[in-house]
Amino acid sequence: MNVLLLGSGAREHVFAWKITQSKLLTKLFITPGNGGTSELGENLDVTYNSFEEVKKIILTNNIKLVVIGPEEPLVNGIVDILKSDPNLKNVIIIGPQKKAAQLEGNKEFAKTFMQKNNIPTAKYKAFTKGYIKEAYAFLEQLNPPYVLKANELAKGKGVIITSDLIHAKSKLKEMLWSDSSKIASETVIVEEFLKGNELSITILANGSNYLLLPEAKDYKKIGENNSGLNTGGMGAISPIPNYNHQFLSKIKQQIIDPTLKGLTQSKIDYTGFLYFGVINVNQTPYLLEYNCRMGDPEAQVVLPRIKNDIIELFLALEKKELSSVKLNIDENQFCTVVSVSGGYPQEFEINKNITGIDEVTDSLIFQGGTKYFGKNLTTNGGRVLSATSSATSLKKALEKSYTALKKIHFDYEYYRKDIGAEFLNQQS
Ligand code: AMP
Ligand code: GLY
Repeated sequence: MNVLLLGSGAREHVFAWKITQSKLLTKLFITPGNGGTSELGENLDVTYNSFEEVKKIILTNNIKLVVIGPEEPLVNGIVDILKSDPNLKNVIIIGPQKKAAQLEGNKEFAKTFMQKNNIPTAKYKAFTKGYIKEAYAFLEQLNPPYVLKANELAKGKGVIITSDLIHAKSKLKEMLWSDSSKIASETVIVEEFLKGNELSITILANGSNYLLLPEAKDYKKIGENNSGLNTGGMGAISPIPNYNHQFLSKIKQQIIDPTLKGLTQSKIDYTGFLYFGVINVNQTPYLLEYNCRMGDPEAQVVLPRIKNDIIELFLALEKKELSSVKLNIDENQFCTVVSVSGGYPQEFEINKNITGIDEVTDSLIFQGGTKYFGKNLTTNGGRVLSATSSATSLKKALEKSYTALKKIHFDYEYYRKDIGAEFLNQQS
Protein backbone atom coordinates (compact mmCIF):
# COMPACT_ATOMS: atom_id res chain seq x y z
CA MET A 1 0.00 0.00 0.00
CA ASN A 2 1.00 3.64 -0.45
CA VAL A 3 1.58 5.58 2.76
CA LEU A 4 1.67 9.31 3.48
CA LEU A 5 3.62 10.57 6.48
CA LEU A 6 3.22 14.13 7.72
CA GLY A 7 6.04 15.98 9.46
CA SER A 8 9.65 17.01 9.16
CA GLY A 9 11.46 16.10 12.37
CA ALA A 10 13.75 13.27 13.41
CA ARG A 11 10.62 11.56 14.76
CA GLU A 12 9.30 11.45 11.20
CA HIS A 13 12.65 10.15 9.91
CA VAL A 14 12.40 7.23 12.35
CA PHE A 15 8.76 6.65 11.34
CA ALA A 16 9.85 6.64 7.69
CA TRP A 17 12.66 4.20 8.53
CA LYS A 18 10.21 1.82 10.26
CA ILE A 19 7.55 2.14 7.56
CA THR A 20 10.03 1.35 4.77
CA GLN A 21 10.90 -1.90 6.58
CA SER A 22 7.30 -3.07 6.27
CA LYS A 23 6.54 -5.82 3.80
CA LEU A 24 3.17 -4.12 3.19
CA LEU A 25 4.63 -0.87 1.84
CA THR A 26 4.50 -0.04 -1.86
CA LYS A 27 5.59 3.60 -1.75
CA LEU A 28 6.12 6.17 0.98
CA PHE A 29 5.39 9.88 0.53
CA ILE A 30 6.37 12.45 3.15
CA THR A 31 5.16 16.02 3.46
CA PRO A 32 7.25 18.08 3.82
CA GLY A 33 9.90 15.65 5.17
CA ASN A 34 13.60 16.43 5.54
CA GLY A 35 16.97 15.40 4.10
CA GLY A 36 16.75 12.00 5.79
CA THR A 37 13.23 11.11 4.68
CA SER A 38 14.08 12.07 1.06
CA GLU A 39 16.36 9.02 1.01
CA LEU A 40 13.51 6.71 2.05
CA GLY A 41 10.54 7.98 0.06
CA GLU A 42 9.32 10.92 -1.95
CA ASN A 43 9.25 14.25 -0.13
CA LEU A 44 6.38 16.47 -1.28
CA ASP A 45 7.01 20.15 -0.82
CA VAL A 46 3.61 21.00 0.63
CA THR A 47 2.88 22.32 4.10
CA TYR A 48 0.88 19.88 6.17
CA ASN A 49 -1.11 22.81 7.49
CA SER A 50 -2.88 23.07 4.15
CA PHE A 51 -5.44 20.31 4.65
CA GLU A 52 -6.88 20.66 1.14
CA GLU A 53 -3.40 20.08 -0.33
CA VAL A 54 -3.00 17.00 1.86
CA LYS A 55 -6.34 15.66 0.56
CA LYS A 56 -5.15 16.17 -3.01
CA ILE A 57 -1.94 14.27 -2.30
CA ILE A 58 -3.92 11.36 -0.83
CA LEU A 59 -6.21 11.12 -3.84
CA THR A 60 -3.54 11.66 -6.52
CA ASN A 61 -1.19 9.07 -5.05
CA ASN A 62 -3.72 6.41 -4.09
CA ILE A 63 -2.70 6.65 -0.41
CA LYS A 64 -4.28 4.02 1.88
CA LEU A 65 -2.63 4.97 5.18
CA VAL A 66 -1.85 8.42 6.60
CA VAL A 67 0.44 8.79 9.63
CA ILE A 68 0.49 12.21 11.28
CA GLY A 69 3.68 12.91 13.25
CA PRO A 70 3.43 16.42 14.74
CA GLU A 71 0.80 17.94 17.04
CA GLU A 72 0.02 21.10 15.10
CA PRO A 73 -2.15 19.65 12.30
CA LEU A 74 -3.83 17.33 14.83
CA VAL A 75 -4.73 20.16 17.19
CA ASN A 76 -5.97 22.15 14.17
CA GLY A 77 -8.31 19.32 13.16
CA ILE A 78 -6.73 17.64 10.14
CA VAL A 79 -8.22 14.26 11.09
CA ASP A 80 -11.77 15.63 11.21
CA ILE A 81 -11.31 17.24 7.78
CA LEU A 82 -9.91 14.08 6.20
CA LYS A 83 -12.47 11.76 7.82
CA SER A 84 -15.41 13.92 6.74
CA ASP A 85 -14.52 13.58 3.04
CA PRO A 86 -16.46 10.67 1.49
CA ASN A 87 -13.68 10.20 -1.11
CA LEU A 88 -11.31 9.25 1.70
CA LYS A 89 -13.57 6.85 3.58
CA ASN A 90 -11.30 3.86 2.95
CA VAL A 91 -8.13 5.64 4.05
CA ILE A 92 -6.73 4.69 7.46
CA ILE A 93 -5.66 7.75 9.44
CA ILE A 94 -3.33 7.45 12.42
CA GLY A 95 -3.93 10.42 14.70
CA PRO A 96 -6.67 11.73 17.00
CA GLN A 97 -9.51 14.01 15.96
CA LYS A 98 -9.46 17.68 16.97
CA LYS A 99 -11.45 17.30 20.19
CA ALA A 100 -9.16 14.52 21.43
CA ALA A 101 -6.02 16.44 20.43
CA GLN A 102 -7.07 19.23 22.81
CA LEU A 103 -5.54 17.02 25.51
CA GLU A 104 -2.30 18.52 24.21
CA GLY A 105 -3.53 21.68 22.48
CA ASN A 106 -5.36 23.15 25.45
CA LYS A 107 -3.74 22.66 28.85
CA GLU A 108 -6.78 23.94 30.76
CA PHE A 109 -8.92 21.33 28.99
CA ALA A 110 -6.34 18.66 29.86
CA LYS A 111 -6.13 19.67 33.53
CA THR A 112 -9.93 19.80 33.86
CA PHE A 113 -10.11 16.35 32.26
CA MET A 114 -7.48 14.99 34.70
CA GLN A 115 -9.35 16.40 37.70
CA LYS A 116 -12.71 15.13 36.50
CA ASN A 117 -11.27 11.63 36.08
CA ASN A 118 -9.30 11.59 39.36
CA ILE A 119 -5.95 11.39 37.59
CA PRO A 120 -3.20 12.56 39.96
CA THR A 121 -1.76 15.88 38.74
CA ALA A 122 -0.23 19.05 40.17
CA LYS A 123 -2.60 21.44 41.93
CA TYR A 124 -3.38 24.36 39.59
CA LYS A 125 -5.58 27.28 38.63
CA ALA A 126 -6.10 28.87 35.23
CA PHE A 127 -6.15 32.68 34.85
CA THR A 128 -7.00 35.19 32.13
CA LYS A 129 -6.06 38.87 31.80
CA GLY A 130 -8.79 40.23 34.09
CA TYR A 131 -7.77 38.00 37.00
CA ILE A 132 -4.17 38.99 37.61
CA LYS A 133 -4.71 39.88 41.29
CA GLU A 134 -6.28 36.48 41.92
CA ALA A 135 -3.35 34.87 40.08
CA TYR A 136 -0.84 36.71 42.27
CA ALA A 137 -2.77 35.61 45.36
CA PHE A 138 -2.67 31.97 44.17
CA LEU A 139 1.09 32.24 43.55
CA GLU A 140 1.54 33.53 47.10
CA GLN A 141 -0.22 30.45 48.47
CA LEU A 142 2.16 28.08 46.65
CA ASN A 143 5.64 27.10 47.76
CA PRO A 144 8.51 27.89 45.38
CA PRO A 145 9.48 27.00 42.70
CA TYR A 146 6.51 28.36 40.74
CA VAL A 147 5.32 26.84 37.46
CA LEU A 148 3.62 28.96 34.78
CA LYS A 149 2.28 27.40 31.57
CA ALA A 150 0.91 28.90 28.39
CA ASN A 151 -2.45 27.32 27.67
CA GLU A 152 -1.89 26.57 24.02
CA LEU A 153 0.77 24.78 21.94
CA ALA A 154 4.24 26.18 22.53
CA LYS A 155 6.63 23.54 21.07
CA GLY A 156 7.96 22.60 24.50
CA LYS A 157 8.79 26.19 25.31
CA GLY A 158 5.62 27.34 27.06
CA VAL A 159 6.64 26.46 30.63
CA ILE A 160 8.37 28.87 33.00
CA ILE A 161 9.74 27.58 36.29
CA THR A 162 11.21 30.06 38.73
CA SER A 163 11.89 30.13 42.47
CA ASP A 164 11.59 33.90 42.73
CA LEU A 165 8.06 35.08 43.50
CA ILE A 166 8.67 38.58 42.08
CA HIS A 167 10.02 37.07 38.84
CA ALA A 168 7.06 34.66 38.67
CA LYS A 169 4.63 37.58 39.01
CA SER A 170 6.39 39.65 36.35
CA LYS A 171 6.47 36.69 33.90
CA LEU A 172 2.82 35.98 34.58
CA LYS A 173 1.98 39.60 33.81
CA GLU A 174 4.06 39.49 30.61
CA MET A 175 2.28 36.31 29.48
CA LEU A 176 -1.20 37.74 30.07
CA TRP A 177 -0.72 41.40 29.18
CA SER A 178 2.09 41.75 26.67
CA ASP A 179 0.53 40.58 23.39
CA SER A 180 3.78 41.00 21.45
CA SER A 181 5.79 38.86 23.93
CA LYS A 182 6.98 35.44 22.74
CA ILE A 183 5.43 33.96 25.87
CA ALA A 184 2.04 35.71 25.48
CA SER A 185 -0.96 33.52 26.25
CA GLU A 186 -4.63 34.36 26.74
CA THR A 187 -4.87 31.86 29.57
CA VAL A 188 -2.04 30.92 31.91
CA ILE A 189 -1.97 27.84 34.14
CA VAL A 190 -0.30 28.44 37.49
CA GLU A 191 0.76 25.15 38.97
CA GLU A 192 2.29 23.58 42.04
CA PHE A 193 5.85 22.30 41.42
CA LEU A 194 6.29 18.55 41.69
CA LYS A 195 9.66 17.02 42.52
CA GLY A 196 10.60 13.63 41.14
CA ASN A 197 11.94 11.67 38.18
CA GLU A 198 10.10 12.07 34.90
CA LEU A 199 9.34 9.38 32.37
CA SER A 200 7.58 9.25 29.02
CA ILE A 201 4.91 6.62 28.52
CA THR A 202 3.28 6.11 25.13
CA ILE A 203 0.34 4.04 24.02
CA LEU A 204 -1.08 3.34 20.59
CA ALA A 205 -4.85 3.41 21.03
CA ASN A 206 -8.15 2.99 19.32
CA GLY A 207 -10.75 3.83 21.96
CA SER A 208 -10.18 1.59 24.96
CA ASN A 209 -8.24 -0.92 22.84
CA TYR A 210 -4.56 -0.11 23.24
CA LEU A 211 -0.99 -1.25 23.18
CA LEU A 212 1.58 -0.04 25.70
CA LEU A 213 4.88 0.90 24.05
CA PRO A 214 8.25 0.81 25.82
CA GLU A 215 8.93 3.58 28.34
CA ALA A 216 11.58 6.25 27.79
CA LYS A 217 13.33 9.04 29.62
CA ASP A 218 13.70 12.34 27.83
CA TYR A 219 16.28 15.08 28.58
CA LYS A 220 14.42 18.35 28.12
CA LYS A 221 16.86 21.05 29.17
CA ILE A 222 19.36 22.58 26.77
CA GLY A 223 22.26 22.51 29.24
CA GLU A 224 24.19 19.77 31.00
CA ASN A 225 23.05 18.78 34.49
CA ASN A 226 19.54 19.71 33.32
CA SER A 227 20.27 23.42 33.30
CA GLY A 228 19.01 26.29 31.15
CA LEU A 229 15.96 26.56 28.94
CA ASN A 230 13.44 23.85 28.12
CA THR A 231 13.68 22.41 24.61
CA GLY A 232 11.68 19.87 22.62
CA GLY A 233 14.18 17.28 23.93
CA MET A 234 17.97 16.86 23.77
CA GLY A 235 18.26 13.11 24.15
CA ALA A 236 16.44 10.02 25.36
CA ILE A 237 17.05 6.52 26.65
CA SER A 238 14.93 3.37 26.65
CA PRO A 239 14.55 1.20 28.65
CA ILE A 240 15.03 3.22 31.85
CA PRO A 241 17.60 1.31 33.94
CA ASN A 242 16.21 -0.12 37.21
CA TYR A 243 12.70 0.80 36.15
CA ASN A 244 10.28 -0.53 38.70
CA HIS A 245 7.51 -2.53 37.05
CA GLN A 246 5.18 -2.11 40.03
CA PHE A 247 5.31 1.58 39.25
CA LEU A 248 4.15 0.78 35.73
CA SER A 249 1.05 -0.97 37.12
CA LYS A 250 0.30 2.19 39.10
CA ILE A 251 0.62 4.26 35.92
CA LYS A 252 -1.81 1.91 34.19
CA GLN A 253 -4.34 1.95 37.02
CA GLN A 254 -4.11 5.60 38.01
CA ILE A 255 -3.39 7.31 34.70
CA ILE A 256 -3.85 5.26 31.51
CA ASP A 257 -7.07 3.41 32.37
CA PRO A 258 -8.90 6.46 33.81
CA THR A 259 -7.81 8.48 30.77
CA LEU A 260 -9.28 5.99 28.31
CA LYS A 261 -12.40 5.55 30.40
CA GLY A 262 -12.79 9.32 30.71
CA LEU A 263 -12.44 9.75 26.95
CA THR A 264 -15.12 7.12 26.32
CA GLN A 265 -17.43 8.75 28.88
CA SER A 266 -16.90 12.13 27.20
CA LYS A 267 -17.68 10.44 23.85
CA ILE A 268 -14.23 11.29 22.54
CA ASP A 269 -12.93 8.60 20.24
CA TYR A 270 -9.12 8.55 20.59
CA THR A 271 -7.20 7.04 17.68
CA GLY A 272 -3.42 7.18 17.46
CA PHE A 273 -0.44 7.68 19.74
CA LEU A 274 -1.08 9.12 23.19
CA TYR A 275 1.87 10.23 25.29
CA PHE A 276 1.81 10.64 29.05
CA GLY A 277 4.45 12.87 30.63
CA VAL A 278 4.63 11.22 34.07
CA ILE A 279 6.58 12.27 37.18
CA ASN A 280 7.33 9.88 40.01
CA VAL A 281 6.64 11.66 43.31
CA ASN A 282 7.58 9.27 46.15
CA GLN A 283 6.36 6.27 44.12
CA THR A 284 3.05 7.94 43.19
CA PRO A 285 2.72 8.69 39.49
CA TYR A 286 1.50 12.21 38.66
CA LEU A 287 0.59 13.27 35.15
CA LEU A 288 2.34 16.46 34.01
CA GLU A 289 0.98 16.51 30.48
CA TYR A 290 -0.57 14.65 27.59
CA ASN A 291 0.76 14.79 24.05
CA CYS A 292 -1.46 13.64 21.20
CA ARG A 293 1.47 12.08 19.30
CA MET A 294 4.78 10.32 19.86
CA GLY A 295 7.50 12.31 21.59
CA ASP A 296 10.59 13.56 19.83
CA PRO A 297 13.27 12.33 20.71
CA GLU A 298 11.42 9.47 22.48
CA ALA A 299 10.39 8.07 19.08
CA GLN A 300 14.07 7.73 18.16
CA VAL A 301 14.57 5.16 20.95
CA VAL A 302 11.08 3.63 21.28
CA LEU A 303 10.36 2.82 17.62
CA PRO A 304 13.73 1.11 16.94
CA ARG A 305 13.05 -1.19 19.93
CA ILE A 306 9.81 -2.42 18.36
CA LYS A 307 10.54 -5.30 16.00
CA ASN A 308 6.95 -5.70 14.73
CA ASP A 309 5.97 -4.52 11.26
CA ILE A 310 4.63 -1.01 11.96
CA ILE A 311 2.05 -1.08 9.15
CA GLU A 312 0.68 -4.31 10.63
CA LEU A 313 0.32 -2.48 13.96
CA PHE A 314 -1.60 0.31 12.24
CA LEU A 315 -3.89 -2.23 10.56
CA ALA A 316 -4.51 -3.88 13.95
CA LEU A 317 -5.35 -0.45 15.35
CA GLU A 318 -7.91 0.09 12.60
CA LYS A 319 -9.54 -3.28 13.41
CA LYS A 320 -9.47 -2.58 17.18
CA GLU A 321 -7.24 -5.61 17.66
CA LEU A 322 -4.29 -3.84 19.28
CA SER A 323 -4.71 -5.34 22.72
CA SER A 324 -4.23 -8.83 21.32
CA VAL A 325 -1.02 -7.94 19.45
CA LYS A 326 2.19 -9.28 20.93
CA LEU A 327 4.89 -6.64 20.80
CA ASN A 328 8.31 -7.97 20.02
CA ILE A 329 10.68 -5.67 21.90
CA ASP A 330 14.47 -5.42 21.59
CA GLU A 331 15.71 -5.71 25.18
CA ASN A 332 19.04 -4.03 24.47
CA GLN A 333 19.71 -0.60 25.92
CA PHE A 334 18.92 2.21 23.47
CA CYS A 335 19.90 5.87 23.60
CA THR A 336 19.67 8.85 21.32
CA VAL A 337 21.62 12.11 21.52
CA VAL A 338 20.26 15.17 19.72
CA SER A 339 22.65 17.55 17.97
CA VAL A 340 21.33 21.08 17.55
CA SER A 341 22.29 24.29 15.83
CA GLY A 342 23.91 26.53 18.50
CA GLY A 343 21.51 29.10 19.94
CA TYR A 344 18.53 26.69 19.89
CA PRO A 345 15.95 26.87 21.54
CA GLN A 346 16.31 30.61 20.87
CA GLU A 347 17.76 32.15 17.67
CA PHE A 348 19.93 29.81 15.58
CA GLU A 349 21.50 29.69 12.13
CA ILE A 350 20.51 27.42 9.23
CA ASN A 351 21.97 26.50 5.81
CA LYS A 352 25.24 25.15 7.23
CA ASN A 353 26.81 22.17 5.43
CA ILE A 354 26.58 18.85 7.26
CA THR A 355 29.36 16.32 6.70
CA GLY A 356 30.29 12.91 8.07
CA ILE A 357 26.94 11.10 8.28
CA ASP A 358 28.17 8.50 5.76
CA GLU A 359 31.11 7.66 8.03
CA VAL A 360 28.81 6.52 10.85
CA THR A 361 28.53 2.73 10.93
CA ASP A 362 27.48 1.79 14.46
CA SER A 363 24.56 4.18 15.02
CA LEU A 364 21.40 5.24 13.23
CA ILE A 365 21.33 8.92 12.33
CA PHE A 366 17.80 10.28 12.26
CA GLN A 367 17.67 13.69 10.64
CA GLY A 368 15.38 16.50 11.79
CA GLY A 369 16.26 20.02 10.68
CA THR A 370 18.10 19.09 7.48
CA LYS A 371 17.60 19.73 3.79
CA TYR A 372 19.40 18.90 0.56
CA PHE A 373 20.60 21.71 -1.71
CA GLY A 374 21.57 19.65 -4.73
CA LYS A 375 23.88 17.03 -3.26
CA ASN A 376 24.76 19.12 -0.20
CA LEU A 377 23.03 18.26 3.04
CA THR A 378 22.54 21.43 5.10
CA THR A 379 21.00 22.43 8.41
CA ASN A 380 17.42 23.63 8.24
CA GLY A 381 16.19 23.75 11.84
CA GLY A 382 17.14 23.86 15.52
CA ARG A 383 17.26 20.16 16.29
CA VAL A 384 19.38 18.97 13.37
CA LEU A 385 19.78 15.24 13.94
CA SER A 386 19.66 12.44 16.49
CA ALA A 387 22.25 9.69 16.91
CA THR A 388 20.53 6.49 18.08
CA SER A 389 22.52 3.48 19.27
CA SER A 390 21.91 0.20 21.03
CA ALA A 391 24.14 -2.11 23.02
CA THR A 392 24.05 -4.52 25.94
CA SER A 393 24.69 -1.65 28.37
CA LEU A 394 23.80 2.04 28.45
CA LYS A 395 27.49 2.91 28.70
CA LYS A 396 28.28 1.10 25.45
CA ALA A 397 25.24 2.54 23.68
CA LEU A 398 26.20 6.08 24.70
CA GLU A 399 29.79 5.54 23.58
CA LYS A 400 28.49 4.60 20.14
CA SER A 401 26.27 7.70 19.87
CA TYR A 402 29.05 10.05 21.01
CA THR A 403 31.54 8.40 18.61
CA ALA A 404 29.03 8.91 15.79
CA LEU A 405 28.51 12.57 16.68
CA LYS A 406 32.27 13.19 16.66
CA LYS A 407 32.31 12.13 12.99
CA ILE A 408 29.52 14.55 12.02
CA HIS A 409 30.23 18.24 11.53
CA PHE A 410 28.30 21.42 10.91
CA ASP A 411 28.93 25.00 12.03
CA TYR A 412 27.63 25.86 15.49
CA GLU A 413 26.77 22.24 16.35
CA TYR A 414 26.01 21.56 20.00
CA TYR A 415 24.92 18.47 21.92
CA ARG A 416 24.73 17.53 25.57
CA LYS A 417 27.53 15.23 26.73
CA ASP A 418 25.62 13.94 29.76
CA ILE A 419 22.65 12.05 28.32
CA GLY A 420 22.01 9.03 30.56
CA ALA A 421 24.97 9.99 32.75
CA GLU A 422 23.09 9.66 36.04
CA PHE A 423 22.63 5.91 35.40
CA LEU A 424 26.22 5.13 34.44
CA ASN A 425 27.67 4.53 37.89
CA GLN A 426 24.81 2.08 38.52
CA GLN A 427 25.86 -0.07 35.54
CA SER A 428 28.83 -2.18 34.65
P1 AMP B 1 4.89 20.21 30.08
O1 AMP B 1 4.92 20.91 28.75
O2 AMP B 1 3.67 20.45 30.88
O3 AMP B 1 5.30 18.78 30.03
O4 AMP B 1 6.16 20.80 30.84
C1 AMP B 1 7.46 20.69 30.32
C2 AMP B 1 8.41 20.33 31.42
O5 AMP B 1 8.34 21.28 32.49
C3 AMP B 1 8.10 19.01 32.07
O6 AMP B 1 8.64 17.93 31.38
C4 AMP B 1 8.76 19.19 33.43
O7 AMP B 1 10.15 18.99 33.33
C5 AMP B 1 8.50 20.63 33.73
N1 AMP B 1 7.25 20.76 34.50
C6 AMP B 1 6.02 21.03 34.02
N2 AMP B 1 5.11 21.07 35.02
C7 AMP B 1 5.76 20.83 36.16
C8 AMP B 1 5.39 20.72 37.52
N3 AMP B 1 4.14 20.93 37.91
N4 AMP B 1 6.34 20.43 38.43
C9 AMP B 1 7.62 20.23 38.05
N5 AMP B 1 8.05 20.32 36.79
C10 AMP B 1 7.15 20.62 35.84
N1 GLY C 1 10.07 15.08 24.08
C1 GLY C 1 8.86 15.58 24.52
C2 GLY C 1 7.91 15.91 23.45
O1 GLY C 1 8.00 15.43 22.35
O2 GLY C 1 7.01 16.69 23.72
